[in-house]
Amino acid sequence: MSEEAGRCVPENFKSMKARNKQAAIYAGTFDPMTKGHLDLIERAAHIFDRLIVAVAEHSRKNPLFSLEERLEQARGVVRKLPNVEVDRFSGLLVDYARAKGVHVLVRGLRVFSDFEFEFKMALTNRAMTPEVETLFLMTKEDYSFLSSSTVREIAELGGQTAQFVPAVVQAALKRKLGGAAVVAPAQKRRSQRLAADE
Ligand code: COA
Repeated sequence: MSEEAGRCVPENFKSMKARNKQAAIYAGTFDPMTKGHLDLIERAAHIFDRLIVAVAEHSRKNPLFSLEERLEQARGVVRKLPNVEVDRFSGLLVDYARAKGVHVLVRGLRVFSDFEFEFKMALTNRAMTPEVETLFLMTKEDYSFLSSSTVREIAELGGQTAQFVPAVVQAALKRKLGGAAVVAPAQKRRSQRLAADE
């Protein structure tokens, strides 16, 4: 027995825990990373010893942010989470997981509409690589309505994004969209009126 955080921990439990060291990959386009993504990262980081946030190099989504920008944002968002690292990947996700020696892919499920897409993706990945398992975490209720495209649209139309994205992402939206991302609509309308009156 040994003392760990005031509790008696059997030695064999500690070695068991060391043997079971488990890593997982949370992959996505993250264009941009939202508070919904961050919630999932934090929860997965509690479950796994090591979490790799893998930013997809290629995406059919024609991202607003470049790969380098998405990587920089992701690093900023997770910088206080010691067991989370950020990496990039291209090609098939299962090939990346195999190359990393990781057997678990984490995905978030928000609403029923996510299910069909996620189900197809998980089954296809399993058909290609049976040893890689997909684990789903239910998104926190607060973020069940949230998506990266909604955030992009709000920012592009001059709405406030602070409640939806971490601060580093909010700053990146501001840089990318020239300030429209953080100017409140009322404030924007007021400055437009003032400019028109001049
Ligand atoms: N909270 C809030 N929103 C969430 C969320 C959560 N927990 N989880 C997902 N979302 C939203 C995102 O905001 C995003 O919204 P959008 O569609 O409006 O942009 C959407 O759900 C999913 O985006 P993201 O989480 O970034 O992941 P993705 O679906 O873009 O990622 C890959 C897909 C990259 C993992 C997948 O395409 C892939 O593996 N590609 C590699 C090629 C491959 O292996 N193909 C075969 C796959 S079968």
